[in-house]
Order: sequence, then C-alpha cells, then structure tokens
Amino acid sequence: MSIALVILAAGQGTRMNSDLPKVLHQIAGAPMLVHAIRAGEPLEPSRIVVVTGHGGEAVGKAALNYQPGIKIAIQDQQLGTAHAVAQARDALKGFEGDVIVLYGDTPFIRPETLEQMQAARAAHDVVVLGFEAADPGRYGRLVMNGQNLERIVEFKDATEEERRITLCNSGVVAANADVLFDLIDGVSNENASGEYYLTDIVGLARSRGMSAGTVTCAEAETMGVNSRAELTVAEGLFQARARAEALEDGVTLVAPETVYFAYDTAIGRDSVVEPNVVFGPGASVESGVKIRAFSHLEGCHVSRGGVIGPYARLRPGAELAEDVKVGNFVEIKAARVDRAAKINHLTYIGDAEIGEEANIGAGTVTCNYDGVLKHTTRIGARAFIGSSTMLVAPVSIGDDAMTGSGSVITQDVEPGALALGRSRQVTKPGLARRLFEVLKKKKRDQGTH
Ligand code: UD1
Ligand code: CA
Repeated sequence: MSIALVILAAGQGTRMNSDLPKVLHQIAGAPMLVHAIRAGEPLEPSRIVVVTGHGGEAVGKAALNYQPGIKIAIQDQQLGTAHAVAQARDALKGFEGDVIVLYGDTPFIRPETLEQMQAARAAHDVVVLGFEAADPGRYGRLVMNGQNLERIVEFKDATEEERRITLCNSGVVAANADVLFDLIDGVSNENASGEYYLTDIVGLARSRGMSAGTVTCAEAETMGVNSRAELTVAEGLFQARARAEALEDGVTLVAPETVYFAYDTAIGRDSVVEPNVVFGPGASVESGVKIRAFSHLEGCHVSRGGVIGPYARLRPGAELAEDVKVGNFVEIKAARVDRAAKINHLTYIGDAEIGEEANIGAGTVTCNYDGVLKHTTRIGARAFIGSSTMLVAPVSIGDDAMTGSGSVITQDVEPGALALGRSRQVTKPGLARRLFEVLKKKKRDQGTH
C-alpha cells in the first residue's frame, strides 16, 4: 500500500509571540515540522506534502532543506483543517493509496502508532488517532458506538453530555486519498467556528455507509506546541526519551539529566558520556568511546576507542578514526583525523587532514583562513607538531616530520624533516639582575615624592 503524508503547517501560532513560524521552532536541534515528518518516514511515504500558509516561504524552505522531494501546498487563508487538507489535492494528483494527515506542531507521534493506524485501515475506511485525555479541555471528542467511531464533535459545538467524553481527537487521520478528498468536498463550515472541520469527514463517511474506527495512543504522543512554555516542555520530553533510549542501548550517562541530545544523535554501545555534554545535529559516536565532561559535538563522527574532552568542541566535518584523542579546549572543524592521532590541548584544527599517530602539541593552530578563502593543512603520519606551531595553510607537513615549538610554518615540510620557523634565542648573562635593580630603585624614588 502506497502512503502519502500530508502535514498541516499553515496555522499562525500567535501564542509563540515570534517572527518565526511556529513549526520552525526547534526541538532537539530540528524544527518541529521535521519531527512530524520523521514520525511518518518509517512508513516509506511515496509523497510528502506540507501545507503552509503564514510564513509559508520559510516553512517551505525548511521542508525542502530537510528533503528536496517534499511538495509544498499553499493555504492562503486558514479556513479550517479540512480546507487545509484540500490544498494538498494538486500535489497528490495521480497518487493512489492512503493519506495520513499529521500536524506540523505535533512532534511526538511515534512511527509505531502510525503503523497501527495503517493496519487498522484494513477494517475501516477512515481511521482516527484518539487518546484518553487527563484533561479533555477543548479537544474534539470521539463519539463511539462500540468499536466504531460515529463522529467527531468539536468542543465548541458539543453538548454538555458530549463534553463529558474523555476520548479525544489527536488530529491524525488515515484514509484512502480519493475517499478523503470526496469526503472533504462534502464538508461545510456551518458550525460554531465557521471553519471547515476535517473532523466532519467521520460523520460524513458514516452517512455514506462507510466505517470509521480509532487507534489510541498515549496522551504524551499527541502533545501539541502552542507557546514557548510548551516548547520547553516538549524539549524536556524529548530529552527524557532520548536519555532513556541511550541508557537502554547500552550507553553510560553519568548524569543523564545534564546531557542534551539532538534529534538524530547516534551513540554506540559501551560508550560513556560524562556530565554536561551537548550534542548538536549530525553527531555519531561509535562503540567504546568516552566523551568527557563539558564537550560539544555537532556534525561529526567519532570512531571506536576515541576519547574526547573534557571541554572539547567537534564541529561539522570532524571525522575521527579509531583511538583518536582530543583533549581540553581543542576545536576541530572539517578535518579528518586518522587512527590514534593525539590533539590534547588548546588547539584549533580546521580544514585539515591529520595522519595516523600524529601528535599535535599544545596551542597549535591551523591558520586556515586568509580573510577571504579557506585553505587546507595536511599533516603526515607520526608527525610531531611542536607546541604553539602556527601552520599557515595551504601547507603540508610530511610523514615523520617535526616542527619546533613556536614555529610559524608557511612552507611545506618534507617527510622526516625538522622545520624551525622562529627567531634565534639571545641570552645576556647578568642583565636581568641589573635591570631589576634599576627598576626597583625607580620605584623607591617615586615613593619618596
Ligand atoms: C484540531 C481538531 C480537534 C483536535 C485538535 C487536536 C479540527 C476541526 N479540530 O483542533 O478535533 O482535538 O486539533 O490538537 O480539526 N491548520 C492549518 N490550516 C487551517 C487550520 C489549521 O494548516 O486552516 C493546522 C494548524 O497549523 C495545526 C493543525 O492544523 O497544525 C490544527 O489546527 P488547530 O487550529 O490547532 O486545530 P484545533 O482547533 O486545535
Ligand atoms: Ca491546536
């Protein structure tokens, strides 16, 4: 069965009090919209349509940035959820199969839940995701008749008795595409809000002799984000889930509540993450790695046996082979570091290739930027870079070569050579003692005034 996802993201989100469209606010380093899309991806949708309205350009851009194949539909006026889904009709021309409607501001629906909905479609023409609400508030209510869903009534339109129903509508719906659009054509806006309610398709389906059913999920999955306060709650929920999953997967977190994961962080078994480590998007860490306290990793890969930090920063494009050591106050960006190389203290490595077992001394800087362009530094296997070497790129240091401490290296160094790029030392015997005496006398004389 072919699947299409339709993600509704045209709402204004005024309660965010933001210039940024609501669905672009981030949880764990990814826009809420991306979380919603990812929930549906395990179903291998053949089409994904994002319905945008307010701030549409930025929303469309973010969607395409995540996946260029996504189709963008525009809803100029927010006339209701049924009207929003109707805007996806063109983008779904020629599509045959099931549509699953998701909300861009509801980031935590589990893929397993959507799979259950897909399975429930075997028994029902329309499947709605419901949940038992602790406080049903203003949610739409699911009116059941045994196992069958009869209709959905919006809070505003509900009777006192209907408002006592605690089984609520999450908003997620699955139906065959043709059936869905036929039903939507029949939806009117004669209700308390004057909106075209997607929820009305259930009553319509029943009146046309079709069947509707529900799948239920935990309330936490259906959590929507409408304000900054709810955004922090969502972030907290995400982090709690990510930490629990990491522990389950065999990763030691010394102080789990201080470690922050991105939506796509991957960490191998028997790795240890010390307190106060932050993962930005795109970090992957293999098994048996130690990430020491206060490190920040993003867009990087750390292979087996690596030791990172404390206080290390791995930026996008840092590719570390096995057994690499990166110590305190070291920043690495767009650099390949081969097996067992050591970069232990106070160093910047950017746009570089570092050979295996190379040793980079404290305070080394790859001077990769000339103010306009970036240049590459190559350091050979087993090379020894003396402390405080400035490597002015483009420059290459051969295998087994050395640079003297404090050198400014502007020319390539051949394999096995020692390069010194510093001024010669001059020592004047007794001069320090004499200088001290002169200075101390001067201070005494000043004191008598
Ligand atoms: C909707 C449901 C309600 C359900 C609740 C769950 C309807 C009529 N009601 O109510 O039964 O309990 O969600 O949270 O569907 N959107 C558009 N275009 C529009 C209107 C909405 O794209 O014209 C998008 C919004 O951006 C949002 C989603 O659809 O992502 C839901 O819209 P919202 O206005 O929040 O619906 P609710 O009134 O909360
Ligand atoms: Ca809502």
